[in-house]
Amino acid sequence: MPSESSLPKPQDGLILDDRSGSAKAATPWVPGYRMIHAVRSWEAFVETPLTGSCNAVVWVRELAGDFGEVAAWGAPSGDVEALDVPALRSAKLTPSGRQAADAVLHDLDRLKGIGHEPGIERVERYPRDDDEIAPTDVYSFHVDSSTVPTETILCTYAGRASEGLRLDQAQRMVDVDGTRAKLLERFGGDDDERFAEYLRESHLELHYKELPGAEPFSFGVGNLWRLAVQYPGSPAPAFIHRAPAESGAPGTRLLLIS
Ligand SMILES: [Fe+2]
Repeated sequence: MPSESSLPKPQDGLILDDRSGSAKAATPWVPGYRMIHAVRSWEAFVETPLTGSCNAVVWVRELAGDFGEVAAWGAPSGDVEALDVPALRSAKLTPSGRQAADAVLHDLDRLKGIGHEPGIERVERYPRDDDEIAPTDVYSFHVDSSTVPTETILCTYAGRASEGLRLDQAQRMVDVDGTRAKLLERFGGDDDERFAEYLRESHLELHYKELPGAEPFSFGVGNLWRLAVQYPGSPAPAFIHRAPAESGAPGTRLLLIS
């Protein structure tokens, strides 16, 4: 059975269809926080712009099928593995496994149809960064960055879902007093432009800490997400997210990533 994140999700009763993407019609994914627009259709999902007042769109779905069977299909090897999509199209599966596989393939096809290059990953665990001051692995809250305009697409079909953090409940790791002082000590210089360049080049400035009282939230299994990415000239603040801790979570994660 797929296992949900233990983090809270909004009630389904809050979700309405919204094809306009306007602030008036938008439904927040997190109650009381309007930057994440929850929609109920593919059209609204692709048409809602990422802007200064919306930095993520989630298409709320309940997919039918056995996604755990797809996650376990083939000969899993390694901690992170790209699924063989052409082989999945003709794989022998149970009827509910085939239903799940077809849902995954349908997502891939329609995302390719609008110019994305999505892949499917089977994840047991990602590499860990054991840095004691400021770990920069995907288990740490972070924003994605790019040199060109783009956006991140994510869906967790099986296993624990990805997790998000509100902008107003986050602080850049490099702005946390104690952390910045320790990084500066390691750098061995002054807090000047050279240090700023070091923080940029080491990706440290892409990572975030929760402010006291912050309430991270789950993406929910089966939901399709569009996240704003940090790039020069982006109209939307980048969306803060992380991979869920795998400890105590049964089942392999099956993810769409673009
Ligand atoms: Fe990411």
